[in-house]
Amino acid sequence: MKIIRAKDYKDMSRKAANIISAQVIMKPNCVLGLATGGTPVGTYAQLIDWYNKGDVDFSEVTTVNLDEYRGLPRDHEQSYWYFMHKNFFDSVNVQPDRIFVPDGSNPNAEEACREYDAIIRNVGGIDLQLLGIGEDGHIGFNEPGEAFELGTHCVDLTESTINANQRFFNSRDEVPRQAYTMGIKTIMQARKVLMVANGANKAEIIKKAFFGPVTPEVPASILQMHPDFILVGDQEALSLI
Ligand code: F6R
Repeated sequence: MKIIRAKDYKDMSRKAANIISAQVIMKPNCVLGLATGGTPVGTYAQLIDWYNKGDVDFSEVTTVNLDEYRGLPRDHEQSYWYFMHKNFFDSVNVQPDRIFVPDGSNPNAEEACREYDAIIRNVGGIDLQLLGIGEDGHIGFNEPGEAFELGTHCVDLTESTINANQRFFNSRDEVPRQAYTMGIKTIMQARKVLMVANGANKAEIIKKAFFGPVTPEVPASILQMHPDFILVGDQEALSLI
């Protein structure tokens, strides 16, 4: 495990973008595993900036996203497909046929998950997986208690996640109750894992996940066992370690 200390959010985003662009430069046809959430938005913005300057080229890159709500069509403003296009894909040259996000519009969970695992296998596995971390230690939608050995699967969102997401929808009823997510096994099989974390609200969980016991109660803690795991955090997120 490597820990990189950044001054602030901007510095964290730049350092994470540096690691991703190094990956793309070293292997132009690499497979990037990507994440949504607030934390990586600055990383994507930095990559877009370097793309515009001609410093990084995504024309041969394949991307696989961590997760998607079950039941939301791609064009729904709260789908992760939509989020990724708005925050990254629409501004760089990743080829549309090399963009993969679990198919939230497929109501057949077993099929959707099986197909997604097949996609990841067929593209040769993930070279670099970008992750955020939830305050309870979740990665992707793998909540505390989730088995470590799962591939892509369907999860029931916890009440706290539904409540937290309510603000993005017109009513609580509209918040999806389930999501498709890469499992911990899928994430652990990535050849490199890069986590970004910022803000004081992440300090406790960062300490618990990376300086406490490895346990399914803290899903991110398994990353202690990953042979090439890099955590890039700002001062606040790393303040307790
Ligand atoms: C995103 C994802 C989540 C987030 C986590 C942190 O695709 O799967 O695990 O990484 O909830 O979210 P933020 O970055 O908003 O704090």
